[in-house]
Amino acid sequence: MAQLWGGRFTKETDRLVYNFNASVTFDRKMYRQDIIGSKAHAAMLGKQGVLTQEETQAILEGLDGILEDVENGKLQITSEYEDIHSFVEAVLTQRIGDAGKKLHTGRSRNDQVALDMKLYVRDELDETEDLLKELLKSLLQIMEENTDTYMPGFTHLQKAQPVTLAHHIGAYFEMFRRDRERLADVRKRLNLCPLGSGALAGTTYPLDRDFTARCLGFDGPTRNSMDSVSDRDYVIEFLSALSTIMMHLSRFCEEIIIWNSNEYRFVEIDDAYSTGSSIMPQKKNPDIAELIRGKTGRVYGALMSILTTMKGIPLAYDKDMQEDKELTFDAIDTVKGCIALFRGMVSTMTFRKDVMEQSAGRGFTNATDAADYLVRHGVPFRDAHCIVGQLVLVCLEKGISMDELPLDEYKKISPAFEEDVYEAISLKTCVEKRNTFGAPGPEAMEKVIGECRAYLEV
Ligand code: ARG
Repeated sequence: MAQLWGGRFTKETDRLVYNFNASVTFDRKMYRQDIIGSKAHAAMLGKQGVLTQEETQAILEGLDGILEDVENGKLQITSEYEDIHSFVEAVLTQRIGDAGKKLHTGRSRNDQVALDMKLYVRDELDETEDLLKELLKSLLQIMEENTDTYMPGFTHLQKAQPVTLAHHIGAYFEMFRRDRERLADVRKRLNLCPLGSGALAGTTYPLDRDFTARCLGFDGPTRNSMDSVSDRDYVIEFLSALSTIMMHLSRFCEEIIIWNSNEYRFVEIDDAYSTGSSIMPQKKNPDIAELIRGKTGRVYGALMSILTTMKGIPLAYDKDMQEDKELTFDAIDTVKGCIALFRGMVSTMTFRKDVMEQSAGRGFTNATDAADYLVRHGVPFRDAHCIVGQLVLVCLEKGISMDELPLDEYKKISPAFEEDVYEAISLKTCVEKRNTFGAPGPEAMEKVIGECRAYLEV
């Protein structure tokens, strides 16, 4: 049991208490951030004359050595230490002697852990953003290749109007683009440095907080020391952004599961991303999509958990906040894994263009266009809607599509129909004429794809 305190205690900590209180088994994940933060603190103490140049140099070199040895496996972070902060300080002191004991001057584990967690979240935020960018590139490629792949667009999971695969995938491009922007937004608000806030009330040492903030890539120091040590908003915001990413992935997975079903057959997931059944030899299951959909709950759980943990905590630091780590780390690893796997699955998936197109031609996806045809021939839209409704009924009775209904049947319901109605309601026309910005028509789509490309290039 190695801990940083004990002077005012007369008894050993109970073993169960020690284990319950310790966090090294999970906060060791932040060893790099802890060391980088300590280096900035030491350099600042040296600059301010709180430490001598020799002490500062010894600390900086000692910390570099620890980082190197942890990274190459020479030094194990064991559970003999209470937390990562104790571990680094103890090893430093073993290695460089008394100077190591001065590292914690003007610092508390409260501002230290707030800093470590911010640095960790910031690093992971950047990695998540990069992964999303890779996913967006894959989606853009599918879009570019499928501007004329017709498929039914749905509302209520009922066929509605024809769209293209490029357009459908483009909807997800927008979602993941917003997700990236959300991460950038969280980063902006997060990027103030809590180091120098001490336990809660700052310190009497002449610390240069601007210096440490700059050293660590922050925009400046935080403005209130009590808030600094008790703020976990950035964790909540990050988990919220991660939850939204999972919500989007999960919706996409749900669609892929439907599209991959024996009934739809719009896509076929690659063998490398499918699994089989132990009893049914014919099965090829979309387990990866299902697992991503399933893991969404776990990430939401992390968000709910930290929100609940934070809701009753009086200022400033309380140990409750140690609970932020395991669930945040788990959520981050889950989301990063899901984005990467999803990207692999979607970019190796086969789109059955013929099946999609055939499906788009059924189910009266052109009914709105038939009504629009009548509008162009002077019929008020509400009347046109009713007329086409009657046409649909006739077709349903005959078991045919509107393209197959003879012109005299059309004319029985409205004399406004002419021979050119077939052209007006063809699948190609229905898609190609939809060129309002944001619509699936080729001109509109080309503009949007151009914008997406430009967005990814910067
Ligand atoms: N392991 C603690 C945490 O994660 C570090 C801060 C400890 N501070 C304290 N006053 N006990 O929050």
